Amino acid sequence: MKQNWTYLAQLAANEGKEITLKGWVQNRRDSKGIVFIILRDGTGFAQCVVLEETVGEAMFDEAKRLSLETSVELTGTIRKDEKQLGGFEVQVSSLKVITPAEEYPIGKKEHGVDFLMDRRHLWLRSKRQWAIMRIRNEIIFAIHNFFQQNGFVQMDAPIFTGNACEGTSTLFETEFFEDTAYLSQSGQLYGEAMAMAMGKIYTFGPTFRAEKSKTRRHLSEFWMIEPEMAFYDLDMTMDLIEEFIRFVVTAVLKNCKDELAVLERDVTKLETVIKPFPRIAYKDAVQMIRGEKDVNGMNSIKTLEGDLAIVKNKIEEIKTDITSREEKIKSGALKKGEIAFNEQKIQQQKAALRELEEEERNIPQWLESAKNFVPGDDFGGSDETVLTRLFNTPIMVYNWPKAIKAFYMKEADDDKGYVRGVDILAPEGYGEIVGGGQRETDMQVLVDAIHHHQLPMEAFEWYLDLRRYGSVQHSGFGLGLERIICWVCKLPHVREAIPFPRMMGRLLP
Ligand code: 4AD
Ligand code: MG
Repeated sequence: MKQNWTYLAQLAANEGKEITLKGWVQNRRDSKGIVFIILRDGTGFAQCVVLEETVGEAMFDEAKRLSLETSVELTGTIRKDEKQLGGFEVQVSSLKVITPAEEYPIGKKEHGVDFLMDRRHLWLRSKRQWAIMRIRNEIIFAIHNFFQQNGFVQMDAPIFTGNACEGTSTLFETEFFEDTAYLSQSGQLYGEAMAMAMGKIYTFGPTFRAEKSKTRRHLSEFWMIEPEMAFYDLDMTMDLIEEFIRFVVTAVLKNCKDELAVLERDVTKLETVIKPFPRIAYKDAVQMIRGEKDVNGMNSIKTLEGDLAIVKNKIEEIKTDITSREEKIKSGALKKGEIAFNEQKIQQQKAALRELEEEERNIPQWLESAKNFVPGDDFGGSDETVLTRLFNTPIMVYNWPKAIKAFYMKEADDDKGYVRGVDILAPEGYGEIVGGGQRETDMQVLVDAIHHHQLPMEAFEWYLDLRRYGSVQHSGFGLGLERIICWVCKLPHVREAIPFPRMMGRLLP
C-alpha cells in the first residue's frame, strides 16, 4: 500500500524529518506571527507551530482562521519537545484545509453529561474519550491474548435465543418469524455445549439486559466475555479468573501509560492486582458488611463512620480555602498572574469539593444498608461498596445462597442451600465485574431447578442433552467488558466505557 502521509503515532521514528500529516484541528490559539494547532489524527496528538515568517501571509491567515474540527493536511518538521503530550512538536512548512468545520458544539466550557451524550458521535473525538476507547481496545486485545495463549478456542453464541439464561425478568423480547425470540442475556448455555466439543472455549459478544435500572453500572446492551472449561471445578475457576484479571490490568498498565495519564488515573491503585485476590465465602462477606467481622483490623461500620468525619472536615477546609482565595482576588491586591493562578486553584478545589460532597451524601446510605443487610439477600451496589472498601485488590465472593442465583449453579456438597458461584468485586467502589462458577451436572437437580424457576422445559431439552451424553464437571464465568473498563479508567458511569451506549432513555445517537 502506498501511503503518502505519516501518523502521529510514528513521530518518534521521524524525528528531524519533514513529513506530511492528516488530521483534525483539536485546538488552536494564536498570538502575533504564530499559530499553535493541536492536531489529532486518532493515533495521537501533537502541537503544530505555524510561523508567519515561514509560511507566508496567505497561509498564515488561513491558519489563524481555522475552526475547531476542521480537517487539515500539513507538512512540517518533527522536533523533540518533552513538554508536549506525545513528546514532539511539528514546525509547519505548509498547510492545506481539507474541509472546514461549522461551529463546533462541544467547546472548552463544561457541558452536562446529557448534552455530551446527545452528541456522542462527536464527543468520541475528545481526548478523554480517545483515552478510554484506546484502553478498551487494549483490554479486548489482552483478553484474546490471554485465552489464545492458554489453549482456549473462541466460539460465538447466537444473539437470537429461544430460552432465558439469567432469569426471565430481564429479557428483551423480539419477533423471530412466527416465533418469539429473546436477545441473548448470556452465551453461557451455548458455551457449555461448546466446551463439551472443544474442551476450553470463550465467547465474546453483545449481551442484552432489560432491567429497568438506572444505576451507574447498568447498560441495556454490553459486551461479555464468557469462558467455559470442561473438567474445571470452582477453585480452578477462581485461579483462572485471578490470573486473567491480573493479565488484562497488567497489559493496560504496560501499554496505555499515555492514556492513563490523560485520565489522571492513580495507577498505584491498579498495580495492586499483582497481590493475591482474597477469597471470601458469602457468609463471611455478610458478617464483614454488617460489621460483625473485622478485615485486616478494619471494621466496615467504624471505617465508614471515620471516613464520614474525615470527609466533613475536608469539605470545611476546602470551603475555607475557596473563600479566602475569592476574597484575595476581590481585594484587588493581586497581580494578573496571581489572579489566574488563584482562579485555577478555585476550579480544582471546586471539583474536589463535588467529589467529597458526593461521598458525604453516599456514606450515610452505605452505613444504613450495611447495618440493615439481611443474610441471604443478594448484594446491592452499596453492599459491594462497603465490602470492597475494606480491600485494595479485587476480591472473590463464593458459595452464594441458592435462592438468589441462576438455575444452573451447582449446589455445594458441604454447604447445603449454597451454590458454587463466584462474583469478583473490583475495588474503589466498582463492585461486580465477573460472575461465574461451577455448573450443576445432576440431571434431576437441573430438571427440578428449571421447574422451580418456571422456565419452559422444551426450550432446555437440548441443554439437558449435555448431561445425557458424557456429562462432566465444568465451570465458567462472564466478564462484563464495560465494567472492567469502568474500573480501570475510574469512570463515574459505565456509559462512557462503550462507544454508543444503550440504556433506558438512550437509543440515539
Ligand atoms: O453475573 P452475570 O449475570 O452472569 C452471567 O450472565 C453468567 N451466565 C456468566 C457465566 O457464568 N458465563 O453477568 C456477568 C457479568 C457481570 O459480572 C457484569 O460484569 C456484567 O456481566 N453485567 C453487566 N454489565 C453492564 N450492564 C449490565 N446490565 C450488566 N449485567 C451484567
Ligand atoms: Mg452476577
